[in-house]
Amino acid sequence: MAVPGDKSVSHRAVLVGAICEGETRIVRFGRSADTEATVGAVRALGVEVEELDVDTLVVHGAGLRGLHEPAGPIDCGNAGTLMRLLPGILAGQRGRFELVGDASLSARPMERVAEPLRRMGAAVSTTDGHAPVVVEGGAPLRGIDYELPVASAQVKSAVLLAGLYAEGETTVVEPLPTRDHTERLLERAGAPVRRRPRSVSIRPAGRLVLGEVEVPGDFSSAAPFLVAAAIVPGSAVTVHGVGLNPRRTGLLDVLERMGARVAVYNRRLLGGEPVGEVEVRASELVGTAIEREEVPLLVDELPLFALAACHARGESIVRGAEELRHKETDRIEAVVEELRRLGAHIRARPDGFHVRGVPARLRGGVLDTRGDHRLAMLGAVAGLASREGVELHGAEAVEVSFPGFYAVLAQLAAGER
Ligand code: S3P
Repeated sequence: MAVPGDKSVSHRAVLVGAICEGETRIVRFGRSADTEATVGAVRALGVEVEELDVDTLVVHGAGLRGLHEPAGPIDCGNAGTLMRLLPGILAGQRGRFELVGDASLSARPMERVAEPLRRMGAAVSTTDGHAPVVVEGGAPLRGIDYELPVASAQVKSAVLLAGLYAEGETTVVEPLPTRDHTERLLERAGAPVRRRPRSVSIRPAGRLVLGEVEVPGDFSSAAPFLVAAAIVPGSAVTVHGVGLNPRRTGLLDVLERMGARVAVYNRRLLGGEPVGEVEVRASELVGTAIEREEVPLLVDELPLFALAACHARGESIVRGAEELRHKETDRIEAVVEELRRLGAHIRARPDGFHVRGVPARLRGGVLDTRGDHRLAMLGAVAGLASREGVELHGAEAVEVSFPGFYAVLAQLAAGER
């Protein structure tokens, strides 16, 4: 099977394409509610985006300082990546920009981006730490050395994007490595980026040019199928052309540690990102521990890990993952409460969860996605693995990242792929 283009890379390709010179052709764009919000945002800022095909876009770049003040607020929908990255770019534009989002996004912390941007000289305000976020662009920016208080690729990216407009050098120090799609893309676009093991620096760019971005398959969209293959007896799944950025694939290491049969073939580079084929086959799993250092490498896959752990012999634990409480839902509470209702032995910790694997399969029952796309995918895979199946409430939440998810899962479950 294959999965749609990576959501993180798709957001970034549109945003960076918007401030490039000339046309950026985005191939295998991961179309979803989240990434459509990003297309809508750059259009509102005066950028022309042609949709040649459902997954081929051409962004007509406005140049580094060419974005225009929109007529009204920019609606980021459910997209945290959009709301957190865009202020970095807007700080370098002239005008007043207001970013709003849906109820879930409006409950998520935004000071984490506003604070470093303010240190750079930008006028950014939040509403009690949340959306609406207002950027009064055009103030002169200066480079800073910023040590991230939390391991967040979104905050790192916002600061680096603002660094394109700042006098001198801007350096972000990371407590732990997080996804580096922004660095890779800016480097490809010709920005003066310097990478060290624990930090990344950027200097103002004269101009950016991308040309074409081929987006790798989204590892986070492949993950539900890989976990399904690992826990549904007799299964084997191969995902083709999936992104294998080492800062995204922590789940593969964890599944291997648990005894899953994992193979990676045909590693290659696609548009500056590693991709390849991943195969997972079912086998008996044992529990494992995930510590803080590993968390950023599978932060969006931790709900699926909880499900795998339910089907593994012995105990499993996740520590140092308090960031999960600030995702589209509080993913510690949501995962624990919803999996419990399906018969899992799982309990919450302040910074993660603890699972006692059951030799039998989960019973099944009703799972409420709470509007969270990762919960929806978790529930569907839990349904496949369970004895009685799972009835999903709020199943449409998958639209946020993977609109065709259920069709692919149904075909795969029927052995049609
Ligand atoms: C993302 C970074 C992660 C991740 C999110 C996408 C990105 O968030 O959870 O789904 O595209 O940069 P944080 O950077 O806040 O950890």
